[in-house]
Amino acid sequence: MIKSIWVDNFKSLVDFELNLEKFTCLVGLNGAGKSTVLQAMDFLSQLMLGNLDDWLKQRQWVSADLNSKLTSRSNINFRVVVEHANFGEIAWSGSVNRKSLNCTSERVEVTGTVHLRVDDAHCALGKDKFPIVFEYQGSILSGLKESQINSVLQALKNAIGEIKSLDLLSPEMLRSRTKSADGKLGLGGEKLSAFIHESGPEVKDKLKAELQNVYTQLESVETKSLRSGWKQLEITERFGSQQLKTTARHMNDGMLRLMAILAQLEAGSNFLLFDEIENGINPELIEYLIDHLVAAKQQILVTTHSPMILNYLEDDIAKKGVACLYKNNQGHTRAIRLFDIPSVAKKLEFMGPGEAFIDTELIHLNQEIEMLRKQ
Ligand SMILES: Nc1ncnc2c1ncn2[C@@H]1O[C@H](COP(=O)(O)OP(=O)(O)OP(=O)(O)O)[C@@H](O)[C@H]1O
Ligand SMILES: [Mg+2]
Repeated sequence: MIKSIWVDNFKSLVDFELNLEKFTCLVGLNGAGKSTVLQAMDFLSQLMLGNLDDWLKQRQWVSADLNSKLTSRSNINFRVVVEHANFGEIAWSGSVNRKSLNCTSERVEVTGTVHLRVDDAHCALGKDKFPIVFEYQGSILSGLKESQINSVLQALKNAIGEIKSLDLLSPEMLRSRTKSADGKLGLGGEKLSAFIHESGPEVKDKLKAELQNVYTQLESVETKSLRSGWKQLEITERFGSQQLKTTARHMNDGMLRLMAILAQLEAGSNFLLFDEIENGINPELIEYLIDHLVAAKQQILVTTHSPMILNYLEDDIAKKGVACLYKNNQGHTRAIRLFDIPSVAKKLEFMGPGEAFIDTELIHLNQEIEMLRKQ
């Protein structure tokens, strides 16, 4: 599990810290920085995978977009704490040079023992120290062979490399045609058809069973490989005596989104991020979706504008997991647990989390939060 992230100088995240729970939900005004947090976590994950050029290209960004315009610093700094079942807390920190797109300094530490240190173009792995003579992007862990790194570093690399942000899921992308997915949905979900095709019969059956809970007329979810190599996703529905077959191109938006989310939950990855989770999904299905996300085997982070999402959370999950993002008067994104704010916490005594959220004017919270910070 990822316990916390600290990011400095990434877009609106300046000296920004966020604690993460098994299920975390970000709320906050438009422009507070919710999507930026997802982008930052995706960026951290990409550091472990290397190849930041491709990552930037996929997002249609250039490296200059990464820095905060609110500081004059050039490097992006970060610290991530992972709680690992065998090793305890693994802390990974570093500094990314925006031009070379690699971590010019980096450190991995478990309770006082340093497992990796990168500094002055040198790398220290345990007692070994060597000059770095090869080029790489992101973390040096993306450029080292598995045989070179110990089990702590490997565990860290897996945990961070498996963060998946689906912040750009869109119905149009979900309808795209693809030939292969290699276990990835794609940033906008554009590989959905191939992703489901490659996931195998068990996952497909599970997906069908899940979807049937909410689309009672659904009979089957099929995929096939067309002669050209394109993968086609098709559902069959029954209305009375009539059968209706619909391919992804003509499927409804909500079904596609739900399918992508459920398919990703079935397929694995240890940490999934979804932006505006309620998008395109009708209220009746939201409860079902939230129950799934809270019970998922993965760690989950979502953003939402919908009080309904909060209402479906148990009080203790909402208390720990709902973080309110806001901008301080310098324009830096800040996070605070929503139900740590006294005026909001009080409401929980006689309202559900969602009602307390509706009853709260985020615009007026800033002052109260700033007062708290000063104490
Ligand atoms: N390079 C940058 N430096 C500083 N701030 C930036 C930079 N790039 C974008 N921003 C600011 O970051 C803010 C956060 O945007 P973001 O998209 O994360 O908000 P959001 O909370 O997801 O909003 P919404 O609810 O509307 O989706 C925006 O106000 C934007 O002006
Ligand atoms: Mg957003």
